[in-house]
Amino acid sequence: MEDYPVEENVPRRRFLELLLGATSALILGLIGIPLTGYAVSPALKGEKAEWVKVGPIKDLRPGEPVKLNFSYKKVDGWVEETANAYIWALNRDGKNYIAYDSHCTHLGCAYRWNKEQNHFLCPCHDGIFDVDGKVLGGPPPRPLDRYETKVENGELFIGRLLRGGKSA
Ligand code: FES
Repeated sequence: MEDYPVEENVPRRRFLELLLGATSALILGLIGIPLTGYAVSPALKGEKAEWVKVGPIKDLRPGEPVKLNFSYKKVDGWVEETANAYIWALNRDGKNYIAYDSHCTHLGCAYRWNKEQNHFLCPCHDGIFDVDGKVLGGPPPRPLDRYETKVENGELFIGRLLRGGKSA
């Protein structure tokens, strides 16, 4: 049996430990920095509202909600795609416009405007809202959600979704 002096193995062991530590740090750096950037980058973009054009206001008659279909750029982390959606737009008085989110505030079903009854009707559980989005009947716990709106060059734009008057 060979007999190595213990003192001679210590520098080699120490060197291997340092090499292993440096290699681990290098690998963690190579993988960790891009992963951290991937995870954090969308958050750093903040809550900047992007205005989305939903349609011309010339077709909106005062007091009569209209379903407006539109497309928008959907960003989810690094993934960007074009998505389709719709709102119920209301020309209040020729100057003020309301954009209702298309989901019922009970369990998110699609609702529609019932022109004959002059109210919005959600078929899932018979939720009813008036033209201003207030609950008239059924289980919905709050009025219809709205988007921020603005009009530019005859086009209606929507911004952030407001739930109960607050940012969603
Ligand atoms: S989802 Fe609309 S009333 Fe229930």
